[in-house]
Amino acid sequence: MHAALGFLSKLGLRLDVIYPADQPHTAILTDGGKTVRLTTHPDAGPPPGDLPAFLPEFSLTPVGGSSSDGRAGMHYRDLIPNRLGGHYIASHITISDGGPVPDWVHFHRVAFQMIYVRKGWVRVVYEDQGEPFVLRVGDMVLQPSEIRHRVLASSPGLEVIEISCPALHETFADHDMALPNGRDAGRKFSGQRFLRHVASETPWIPSHGGEAQETGMGDATNGLAEVRTLRPGLSSGLAFPPHDGELVFGVVLEGSARLHYGGIHLLGPADAFVIPPGEPWSLSDASESLRLLQVTTARSGGKEESRVVLGDNEESTFLELHARRRGMPAFAGTTMGGQ
Ligand SMILES: [Fe+2]
Repeated sequence: MHAALGFLSKLGLRLDVIYPADQPHTAILTDGGKTVRLTTHPDAGPPPGDLPAFLPEFSLTPVGGSSSDGRAGMHYRDLIPNRLGGHYIASHITISDGGPVPDWVHFHRVAFQMIYVRKGWVRVVYEDQGEPFVLRVGDMVLQPSEIRHRVLASSPGLEVIEISCPALHETFADHDMALPNGRDAGRKFSGQRFLRHVASETPWIPSHGGEAQETGMGDATNGLAEVRTLRPGLSSGLAFPPHDGELVFGVVLEGSARLHYGGIHLLGPADAFVIPPGEPWSLSDASESLRLLQVTTARSGGKEESRVVLGDNEESTFLELHARRRGMPAFAGTTMGGQ
């Protein structure tokens, strides 16, 4: 796919859409009035127009395993291999070589997407958020749906955790917008505002028997998600009551602990897990160095679903927010196979 894309771009075709992010198999390119669909999976359908149903399941994904090559020199490790029905994807993304990143201004249509830095630093720029800035260890951004953005440069060995809903979503190029484009910090994108969490400016407060740096994700998403960095406090145990939402995700940033859920599981650096909603869980024997990224989301179906306030005070559910993706351009043109 990467070689074919390089060949077609040398011929003057312009990349408009590519997916999925972790192992691209389909791209749409244009050349004036012509459209070419390049795919290594000709039988794969397009990303779903509706949000796939959430399927709860416990998962434990130890460090290691296989990784795949995404675009722009990014290597992806899947942290939720079962994808919870296609509802969520969590990726441990590494850029080995530091320096400029061959990215371009692009956007995604998603119900939720965040990026958290585990190691190194990355320089990024976002639509309406002013000048480019650097995200460092423990920093996080919420990338609301359709916000234009671009990765500019990274340290060698950059590692980030990216979590998105739905699992399968497109990367759309925006060939017309140049970034930075000024500042409109209060702007809402599909009801969510851009959020930049800076770890070095955030206090540690008591949480679940340990301590947490809260990120402000709840406010930025109108309660759709909560994200915090956890560490042990005076004791080496942390206990979590049943969560009445959907995703309950954890990834060990550093250190070790024992996870108590359906048995005892030893956790080390870069191990990830998902706990089904409605179930308590806990950590014991946490090392002093333990840092855990914890992400939870609200239910996306049912009568108690969180409501999202969209622009002009229009209200929408999580599901309706995602359904806006249906407006994506339809493909009509030539299909090319390639490896
Ligand atoms: Fe992106």
